[in-house]
Parts: sequence; C-alpha cells; structure tokens
Amino acid sequence: MTARDEHRWRLLLDAVLTLSSGRDLDELLTRIVEVSRDLAGAQYAALGVLAEGERRLRLFVTDGISDEEAALIGPRPTGRGVLGLLIDHPEPVRLHDITEHPQSYGFPPNHPPMHSFLGVPVRTGDRIFGNLYLAEKIGGGDFTEADEEIVTALAAAAGVAVENRLLQEERERLAVFEDRDRIGRDLHDIVIQRLFAIGLRLQAGMKWTDDPRLIERIDEAVDEIDTTIGDIRRTIFELGTRPRSGDLQTRVTRLVDRAAGSLKIRPTLAFSGPIRSAVPPEVAEDVIAVLREALSNTARHAHAGRVAVELTAGAEVVLRVRDDGVGIAADAVEGGLRNMRERAAAHGGRCAVTAVEPSGTQIEWAVPLS
Ligand SMILES: Nc1ncnc2c1ncn2[C@@H]1O[C@H](COP(=O)(O)OP(=O)(O)OP(=O)(O)O)[C@@H](O)[C@H]1O
Ligand SMILES: [Mg+2]
Repeated sequence: MTARDEHRWRLLLDAVLTLSSGRDLDELLTRIVEVSRDLAGAQYAALGVLAEGERRLRLFVTDGISDEEAALIGPRPTGRGVLGLLIDHPEPVRLHDITEHPQSYGFPPNHPPMHSFLGVPVRTGDRIFGNLYLAEKIGGGDFTEADEEIVTALAAAAGVAVENRLLQEERERLAVFEDRDRIGRDLHDIVIQRLFAIGLRLQAGMKWTDDPRLIERIDEAVDEIDTTIGDIRRTIFELGTRPRSGDLQTRVTRLVDRAAGSLKIRPTLAFSGPIRSAVPPEVAEDVIAVLREALSNTARHAHAGRVAVELTAGAEVVLRVRDDGVGIAADAVEGGLRNMRERAAAHGGRCAVTAVEPSGTQIEWAVPLS
C-alpha cells in the first residue's frame, strides 16, 4: 500500500466514523464534501441537496472556495445546466471539460475556471436527495474510474445521513401533531360535552323557581357557557387538529366494531353511495361524533337486541342508527341528542329522533352535500 493509498483509507474511515456520530446534517455534509475533494484529488467539491419533491437545490455545501470568493460569485446554483442534468438523470457523470458540455449553462463572472468534472447522485435506493460534484482534478488530467467509485461510496453515505435527518424531522413533526390531536380531541369530546351538560342542567333547574333575578342569572350563566364553548371550538380549530386517520368509511367501520364490545351485540352496518369521496372532512367529523353518541346512547339506554347503522351519500349524507330497544321516554332530558341536532343545523341539515314500531328508537341525521 502506498502512502497515498494509506491516506485515502484513513480519510474514508474517518468519514464513515463521522457519519455514525450524532452531528448535525450540515456538519456531516460539509465533512463528506471535504473528504471527497481530498480523496478524488479535486480542487473544488460541492454537495447539493434537493428541496423535497422539487427540482431545485435547497442546500449547496462547497469546499475549496473561500467565503469571500463565494460572495463574489453571487447566488448559489439552483440546478440548471450540467448540475440540472444530474438531477434529471441521477447517474455518475465524468467530463473532460464541463464548459464544452452541450448542457453547460456557463459560469457567472468571478467563478473560478472549472474543466474536469465528476458528479454522482446522493441517493439511498430509489430516493434521490441531491448530488455530489467535484471539479478541477489537481495536477490536470481527468477524474478516473477509481475516483468515481470512491465518491459514489461517499455519496451513498451522504444519502444515509440526509435520509436519517428527514426521517427525524418527520418524527418530530408527527409528535407535535399527535399532541395537538390529543388536546383537540380532549377539548372536543370531554370539555365541550361537560359544558353542554352543565348548561342543560341549569336550564332544567329554572323550572324550580319564579324568582326573576335568579332566572336572569341562570340565563346569563347559560349564555356565558355558550360563549365559552364557542371559544373552545375556535381554539380547537386554531390547534389545526387534523381529522383522525383514515377515510370516513374506514372510521365508521372501526367505530362500529369497537361499539360491538360495549353493546354486547354486533350492529349491522350498511354503506351506499360515494362516501369516501363525497363527504367533506368537516361533515365527516360530525358524522363520526354523531355516530359515537348514538351508539353510546344505545349501549347505555336502549337495552336493544339489534342495532342497525346505515350511512348513505347522495344529494345528502344520511346517517341512520336504529335499535329495537325500550324507546325514548317522552320526558327525556336531552344532552348528547341536542349536540347532534346542533351539528346538523350547523351544516343546514336535520336530525330526527323517532320511535320505531313495535319498540325502539331511530336517529336520522342528514346534511346536504353541495
Ligand atoms: N337509543 C335510545 N334508547 C332509549 N333511550 C334513549 C336512547 N337514546 C337516548 N335515550 C334517552 O334519551 C335521553 C337523552 O339522551 P341524550 O343522549 O340526549 O343524553 P344522555 O345520553 O342521557 O346524556 P349525554 O349524552 O349528555 O351523556 C337519555 O337519557 C335516555 O333516557
Ligand atoms: Mg347521550
């Protein structure tokens, strides 16, 4: 092994060790660029990272050009010319003279002269993250096949580093969303429902008094509760709570499956119409909330032997939940049912609770689809 070979091996080993240390991406990429320049014996090296899903370079790390020189050259390349060629055809390219390539876009003024060129894609498997470029083989001459091989290996290492970073960013983003989802859901399913119940209890209490001052105070309290519910709804909206995963049909199926546990019977389930495509997300959220309440009522109050759930999408989306239980007492105080009516009214729809013969209850909740 010659001293030069030994040097190369040490550099390569060094680069791999750097990659497994938990440094940040910029630092890793800078190191890779330095090492590739050294290993391939180039005067200049650069690594361009593509903006995700775009044809544009979002990051361009260079080595061999001082900050002052870089400032004189002006804006970083965005991916035209030969650099663009590599983006469109992610295969190694070796050129004797980059300026003579038909795709050459020319260099901006103050750009150091570059002739010999080696470019390889930064990729893992099918995913292309960018390219690693080398220019001006030191001592003249062209880049060799051996240079290409070693730089390709480094580019693969860079690919792993970039992929790692993207995965990490994705995980962090998901963690934030999950938190927001959970907070939004708790506010919606627990806090708002409780406030509703308190408001109803206060209103029901009014019949026990003729004292106008007390009635006025109760009215004020109920109004305040309504305002608070409005505030919370806005907060939920601002949290940007995403609809829970899955399309409406999948979610309805999941919910019914889960309800089978508390009902001790398995509801029948029927779908018709283009539910997946025709029901907008805001309405889908309400369909889920209404179904959840209807199934919970059936489990708690109906003592039913059969429950049927039906969801139809056409001119309107219609949810029907029918049971053959004891039926709703005439003097029942509404909690969740009122919430269902409000959810329908908010979309210009309707909600009907009817008795089923010979016994049982049917909820029909419908909202027009425009
Ligand atoms: N499927 C049903 N079968 C029989 N009775 C029902 C059924 N659904 C509702 N009820 C009756 O109607 C009442 C009002 O229902 P609603 O969902 O509005 O309130 P809740 O279930 O009592 O309380 P909340 O929904 O606020 O937890 C219930 O208390 C119950 O007596
Ligand atoms: Mg209820």
